[in-house]
Amino acid sequence: MDSLSIKGGTPLHGDVTISGAKNAVLPIMAATLLTAETCVIRRVPNLSDVKFMAQILTSLGAEVTFEGDTLQVRAAKLKPVGDYDLIRKMRGSVCIMGPLLGRLHKATVSLPGGCIIGARPIGLHLKGFAALGAEVVVEAGYVRATAKRLVGTEMFLGGRAGSTVLGTANVMMAAVLAEGVTIIESAACEPEVVDVANFLIAMGAKITGVGSPTITITGVKELHGAEHEVIPDRIEAATYALAAAATDGEVRILGARPDHLHAVLDKMRDAGVKIERNGTTLTVSRKGKLKPVDITTLPYSGFPTDAQAQMMVLMALTPGISIITERIFESRFMHVSELARLGADIEIEGPSAIVKGGKPLSGAPVMASDLRASAALVIAGLAAQGTTQVNRVYHLDRGYENIDGKLRQLGARIERVEET
Ligand code: EPZ
Repeated sequence: MDSLSIKGGTPLHGDVTISGAKNAVLPIMAATLLTAETCVIRRVPNLSDVKFMAQILTSLGAEVTFEGDTLQVRAAKLKPVGDYDLIRKMRGSVCIMGPLLGRLHKATVSLPGGCIIGARPIGLHLKGFAALGAEVVVEAGYVRATAKRLVGTEMFLGGRAGSTVLGTANVMMAAVLAEGVTIIESAACEPEVVDVANFLIAMGAKITGVGSPTITITGVKELHGAEHEVIPDRIEAATYALAAAATDGEVRILGARPDHLHAVLDKMRDAGVKIERNGTTLTVSRKGKLKPVDITTLPYSGFPTDAQAQMMVLMALTPGISIITERIFESRFMHVSELARLGADIEIEGPSAIVKGGKPLSGAPVMASDLRASAALVIAGLAAQGTTQVNRVYHLDRGYENIDGKLRQLGARIERVEET
């Protein structure tokens, strides 16, 4: 397994361009199954999760071709069952259920397992499918949904931590071809869900209320092919902004959507980071001493859980006490023990991490555990004195396009070490 070797202590300087959003492109790729016509998706990030999803679409009978960052999909023929081994490998693949149910009235996927950050149940997805009239059966590690007819209805999709991002997208993708009107209450408002809805509308779906907790879908008979450009990845942008602040550098982040990042930018400004916005460009640097801030992760437009680990690194470098509370996932503090190996002083108290910041970090070998924890370890290695080795880099390659190449362009001393 590859690792990243980072020589820390160099402030990042220069420009970095943001790629398409992983958490938008995965459900959008699934949505192409809703039509037999050709769909063209642009600004597709080069990620292992995207490659997996392309293999899953192919296993369902779709023709999938890439040309640079443009993806073409034509699901003229479609099977209701995909490649279980592939589906099992990537949780995000659960979002093929909605399109399969919507178009074929049947779908079978392997029950997505939990992962290191939490149990990751899909009961709300299945609740939505059942509300539309599907019979849902979970057996032998698979979940099967079948329906004679899909009929629109009103449903509440809120769960223990509020709305569900992929659950909202999944049920929306089944409802667009249902008969009648579907109203989803407690729908997710994340920009990625809005992007999926905008693609569905381009395909001829009738959807209103996207971006609000109440989404209304009026079913249509069929959908046609469409073209769509994926929104930039707000979490990738947050990650580079925090890396710039953590290394006391100055970085211009190009091709972003600052309007998707209000909560993160607001907290970074409170922490003493200077952030200038000019259209889709953000310029990030420090404005004197850093100040501790408290963070609670919430559904959008609150502080995103996917930027929690990266923000924790900035707080570990900030003299004072910061309290970071994780309200979305049950165990998303895997990075804390690894940050401690670099000298960070962080204690976990239930859903909160108490960060006693200000101690200098020093490089050490660390183990990546999940996508965003791995990003946090890279930022910590960039800020630490000495060399940090981040192992199991495949976690990073799932969600960050060419992260070592982009960081080298910003002056980072970072090398990918292929495992011999
Ligand atoms: C999406 O996951 C993202 N993944 C996650 O990003 C992100 O952290 C998460 O949304 C929250 O923003 C993709 O879009 C591929 P949820 P998703 O359903 O949709 C509970 C990353 O690092 N829940 O919004 O699976 C669940 O346990 C990844 O890019 C239920 O209880 O997340 C969690 O506590 C990590 N029942 C909360 O809701 C359900 O049926 C939010 O989960 C579904 C979810």
